[in-house]
Amino acid sequence: MSRIRGKVCVVTGAGSGIGRALAVELAKRGAKAVAISDIKADSVERTAELIGRGTEIHTATLDVSDREAFAAYAEEIAGHFGVVHQVYNNAGVADDDPVDVFGYERYERILDVNLWGVIHGTKEFLPHLIASGDGHITNISSLNGIMAQQGLSAYCASKFAVRGFTESVAFDLEEEGYPVRTTVVHPGGIKTGIADSALEWAKDTGVPVTAEKEARTRLYNEKLLKMDPARAAEIIADGVESNNPRVLVGNDAKLLDALVRLMPRRWPKVFGLLQRQIEKELETPAVETAPESELVHR
Ligand SMILES: NC(=O)c1ccc[n+]([C@@H]2O[C@H](COP(=O)([O-])OP(=O)(O)OC[C@H]3O[C@@H](n4cnc5c(N)ncnc54)[C@H](O)[C@@H]3O)[C@@H](O)[C@H]2O)c1
Repeated sequence: MSRIRGKVCVVTGAGSGIGRALAVELAKRGAKAVAISDIKADSVERTAELIGRGTEIHTATLDVSDREAFAAYAEEIAGHFGVVHQVYNNAGVADDDPVDVFGYERYERILDVNLWGVIHGTKEFLPHLIASGDGHITNISSLNGIMAQQGLSAYCASKFAVRGFTESVAFDLEEEGYPVRTTVVHPGGIKTGIADSALEWAKDTGVPVTAEKEARTRLYNEKLLKMDPARAAEIIADGVESNNPRVLVGNDAKLLDALVRLMPRRWPKVFGLLQRQIEKELETPAVETAPESELVHR
């Protein structure tokens, strides 16, 4: 029996990418209602248009890093539908640069959205999920919640923390006997606008963006962010259906997860070789703006 059919589901960051695809997928699987929100109001209305008939939709503008706004939102959704079964804490942002040039305000932004957004979503909806008698919390971490990469200290800190937070919450819920399960999701490269948005944010806020960095982002988008978000959403929904506490999305995530676990000391070397292989591809004559080595921001 489907664990999604007939349920009231909440998805944050549902205005694009994985969040949008998740909202559509949940509706496809017979969710009774989807409550979709994003910091960008227009984008969430577009997601609503993509959701088929037969599913109730609630749209809202929500900044997940705003605790008071999140608390009010959870009350609104619980009041509106009378019950909430599932929350998908998906909203996230990326930003990359080495630690010595990465300012505190950039760390705060990444942790506010990627970590605090997940903590807010979990805590504010928890009483309603417990009351539903069959609740589920799905928190989107990353491959960078398993494996660190150069230039991504803020993003990795946030995504490793989402993993630790979710796994610890799972113990609490089990200990207390609450009827709420958890899933932490580690996607590999998914074809979304996350890296472009990071560049856009940097430009808008005056963070230096070199032409080389821009070219690199474009190429990594093309070479590494490959999986269709719709497929990622199917894999995540399958994970929830089967009560899987940990979901790896994509062969890249599976391979690198195995590498990190099986070769705890040697994986950076092996990964370096894989990386150089990718760089070679990026440096082929067909690609004019051959980038230097740096890793994709996810
Ligand atoms: N795309 C990938 O390769 C990849 C890989 C691993 C993990 N992830 C994670 O998946 C999640 C979704 O990312 P995506 O790839 O779909 O990116 P995306 O940029 O397409 O979607 C992220 C959404 O979050 C919204 N958002 C940003 N800040 C917000 C805030 N403060 N409050 C509410 N909404 C906010 C954005 O407006 C956007 O609609 C993120 O947590 C990301 O870190 C993505």
